Amino acid sequence: MTTLFTLAPAASPVASSTGSIRAVMLGCGTVGSGVLLRLPRAIRLEALLVKDRTRARPTRAPVFTDIDDILSLRPELVIEALPGGEEAERALERAVAAGCHIVSANKDVCARRPDLEARTRQAGRTFAYAAAVGGGVPVLEAIAQLKAQGRQLIRARAVVNGTSNFVLDRLAAGQSLETAVTAAQEAGFAEADPGADLDGHDAACKLALMARTAWGVDLDPRAIPAQSLRDLDPVAPARAVENGCRIRQVASLRREGGTVTAEVRLETLSLDDPLSRTKDEANCVVLHAETGLPVVLSGKGAGKGPTAASMLGDIARLLAETC
Ligand SMILES: NC(=O)c1ccc[n+]([C@@H]2O[C@H](COP(=O)([O-])OP(=O)(O)OC[C@H]3O[C@@H](n4cnc5c(N)ncnc54)[C@H](OP(=O)(O)O)[C@@H]3O)[C@@H](O)[C@H]2O)c1
Repeated sequence: MTTLFTLAPAASPVASSTGSIRAVMLGCGTVGSGVLLRLPRAIRLEALLVKDRTRARPTRAPVFTDIDDILSLRPELVIEALPGGEEAERALERAVAAGCHIVSANKDVCARRPDLEARTRQAGRTFAYAAAVGGGVPVLEAIAQLKAQGRQLIRARAVVNGTSNFVLDRLAAGQSLETAVTAAQEAGFAEADPGADLDGHDAACKLALMARTAWGVDLDPRAIPAQSLRDLDPVAPARAVENGCRIRQVASLRREGGTVTAEVRLETLSLDDPLSRTKDEANCVVLHAETGLPVVLSGKGAGKGPTAASMLGDIARLLAETC
């Protein structure tokens, strides 16, 4: 087995005994700036990592552009809100190797790299990512709560991607895919590269994190079958509406015995299905446990306020545990 990182205990930060935690923040865009607005006093923000140092920031903390420079401050906590991809993956690898607590919103890296969470927990640190699934909808918290109550999750259905809602409704109104995607970008829903949303990778990452929280299994999000919105018959959304239905990108998870299955599909839903009522950034998740009624969660799955609130919840739990 290859050892990717070695934790050096002498250089590792320790849990705070001063009633506060020294933190750095990686990324100060939509989500990071929302977190900054309401950061508790007990979090002493020592620095920010961004791409463009010249831009004004809502803090006087020093600004860095190199992950190793910022980690040389030996923070106890890394609050991570970088875009998914290799840069963020490398940054989280470095932060984990440095022995930091991690609070992240990054579904892509958290889903693809379960080893980062495992290493952090082995080192006795927190690795939390409530904001990565559902934005402001407490999906992972609800799954963890069911588990704590001894109610084993057996099935989940979810609409967890706002861009796909937005685009599907505009296709239903007769727009082309290209026009609908451009409108989603202009409205701040879709990223410059909307591929992860349209092709189901974003939803697949969220399924992987739900499965890990529920059952401790690590699904590779890239191996989860996903139907792309680009392959949908362009007239299908309008036809569904004519028939009193709505098409949604539905992410499903199921456990039968020792087998876990996951998939992302474009489904035609009747309007009495709660998943059909998701508009724009709204998310809806239905959790079925072995016993009891299904748990239905809905709310804003993205955006500065809801997503930041979810990260702040993780930070509050960390403070409660360590200070
Ligand atoms: N937006 C949402 O509603 C939402 C919801 C749930 C989860 N998330 C997740 O939260 C994370 C952040 O999303 P966001 O919407 O806040 O992104 P964003 O607005 O694009 O902000 C990204 C931040 O990261 C910085 N950054 C980008 N590349 C960098 C690099 N190579 N080195 C250093 N800094 C870099 C940017 O610096 P500059 O400021 O200099 O450009 C910016 O501050 C993503 O993983 C996303 O999937 C977002």
